[in-house]
Amino acid sequence: MTEIVRIENLHKSFDNLEVLKGIDLTVNSGETVVLLGSSGSGKSTMLRCVNFMEIPTSGKIYLNGDLVGNERSGKMTYRESELCALRSRIGMVFQHFNLFPHMTVIENVMEGQVIVLGRSKSEAREKAMAQLERVGLAEKAEEYPARLSGGQKQRVAIARALAMDPEVMLFDEVTSALDPELVGEVLKSMRQLAEEGMTMLCVTHELGFAYHVANRVLFLNDGAILEEGEPQKILKTPKTDRMREFLEGHSLFKLPD
Ligand SMILES: Nc1ncnc2c1ncn2[C@@H]1O[C@H](COP(=O)(O)OP(=O)(O)O)[C@@H](O)[C@H]1O
Ligand SMILES: [Mg+2]
Repeated sequence: MTEIVRIENLHKSFDNLEVLKGIDLTVNSGETVVLLGSSGSGKSTMLRCVNFMEIPTSGKIYLNGDLVGNERSGKMTYRESELCALRSRIGMVFQHFNLFPHMTVIENVMEGQVIVLGRSKSEAREKAMAQLERVGLAEKAEEYPARLSGGQKQRVAIARALAMDPEVMLFDEVTSALDPELVGEVLKSMRQLAEEGMTMLCVTHELGFAYHVANRVLFLNDGAILEEGEPQKILKTPKTDRMREFLEGHSLFKLPD
């Protein structure tokens, strides 16, 4: 198995607040890893460190086997140009889709390709269309975002990230702000991506998705990984009281027999 993301002893503090307390995680090619945890446990901070929207306080991150940054006398240093290049290799989708309202759907999906990757408009348009088809929104290409449902906007945000040909996709609670009836269509697109072999690290409270789609589930508690395992095991028989309480709090989750 090829490792795509390796996180080694990741620590992150904001002033005196230590948010991540030594995280180790490897995500292999084609794997879907789901990260669970209560609000404030550090899930978003962890994802943001992986694509260097936050600079780790200490620890190392490797993408496709390459160490990000330079190590000098035990401390990592990062050049902004390197981080920009790195970010373009990692797709990220957030709770709030942040589409440009004054651009059509397809222009939104083309923008990063043209600005960041330097693709021609015609190439970008072709790639954008292919990704919109992948999330089932080809017929909305010329619409403006205001005319889409929340679920459709989120699928456009996924297509926009995919159009950059990322080596890994990070999803941060992408269904949390959606009306319940729109959650399914977004999870379906994510499931399809996973089945197509995309490498994915997903923060979600959708335990059904974790159960049916993830290869591995991690439970983050107070900045550290408390449990980790196959979804069918860890979600049915958590080892710690803390994770059991967390799962019981998601009472809508019915485990298949
Ligand atoms: N930029 C920041 N500055 C200061 N504190 C932050 C910042 N980002 C996150 N935090 C704090 O870090 C902790 C973890 O936050 P977060 O990673 O967003 O958790 P989660 O995504 O699991 O809800 C929280 O206490 C939050 O207030
Ligand atoms: Mg969060």
